[in-house]
Amino acid sequence: MGTFRALMSTPSVTPRRTPVLAISSNKGGVGKTTVATNLAVYLRALREDLPVLLVGLDDQHVIDRMIALRPLRPGEGHLKHGWAERNLRRVIQLGEYGVHFVPSPPDTALLKARAEDPRTLQRILARTAWEGIVILDTKSDLEALTLNAIHAADRIIIPVADWASLEEARKSFALLAKARLGIDRARVLFTLVDRRTRVGDEGAPLLHGLLAEVRTQRWPTYKTILSRSPKVESLNSGARRPLSILHHARGTALHAQMGELASEILLDIGFAARAPMAAAASANASSRDGSPPAAPRKTPETWAEGLMTGWRQRR
Ligand SMILES: Nc1ncnc2c1ncn2[C@@H]1O[C@H](COP(=O)(O)OP(=O)(O)OP(=O)(O)O)[C@@H](O)[C@H]1O
Ligand SMILES: [Mg+2]
Repeated sequence: MGTFRALMSTPSVTPRRTPVLAISSNKGGVGKTTVATNLAVYLRALREDLPVLLVGLDDQHVIDRMIALRPLRPGEGHLKHGWAERNLRRVIQLGEYGVHFVPSPPDTALLKARAEDPRTLQRILARTAWEGIVILDTKSDLEALTLNAIHAADRIIIPVADWASLEEARKSFALLAKARLGIDRARVLFTLVDRRTRVGDEGAPLLHGLLAEVRTQRWPTYKTILSRSPKVESLNSGARRPLSILHHARGTALHAQMGELASEILLDIGFAARAPMAAAASANASSRDGSPPAAPRKTPETWAEGLMTGWRQRR
């Protein structure tokens, strides 16, 4: 653990233990699993020395399909066993892209029954003592397993893609305040952003309204904004096995943005990005999928501000 601690830079999350990230939204289809899985790949690419453990708290098996090197053998351990043993060590596997994962359970009914105490997962992770980053992908609910993820996490990433997911974010922030966890441990992440989506009579971009509301509420946000990308959509749904953005969608804006997000998150939890991939990810890649081309090494804040300025100028 000594070396692991030594790798840390000045963190804004105090790393009392393994940094834990949870992706959560009560709204389905906002990109939770896409962000969780690809973030794991980008974090590994930026910091080869930093093991990343992915744990899915739903029964959709997307993580297994994308990351597992082989099908789960009969009798082999998965999340349900790790949960029962109060330690995930025995069931962790090394998967594709150098990402570790815990195989998903066939169903979550039994797990949920054993998750009534929202601090259960936090204790399990403490005993697991993973020497790297843990990423928890959750189901689109605010039920027992998701509550466990929220309690275990140093950072809760809340994807917002539209007004419906913004309303669900409101519930998550209320829940954090009520549970006295504090809203500062959460970050809104704008996902599935399409610059062409306009709303209202004046044709304001959807993102403009969402940003304004998030600022009014003073919810913490990541600077990086993730675009909708038809190419990435096809990576997830076009093949039996979802493919990584880093390896299969390098020509997209989303690739650059995922690199920026991973760097932003690394700094936030106390690590500096090391690999040259940071530069590669921010490079002004040509867009092959119709999504907006990557901004030439602008900060994401500038990207968002530029979008707003452009909109104001056009009016
Ligand atoms: N940036 C993106 N651009 C285009 N499509 C995307 C993007 N991110 C995710 N998708 C697509 O949106 C759909 C939902 O994504 P994903 O499964 O990651 O969401 P989720 O929040 O995990 O959903 P669920 O609530 O069902 O778990 C998928 O079809 C996925 O391929
Ligand atoms: Mg999902």
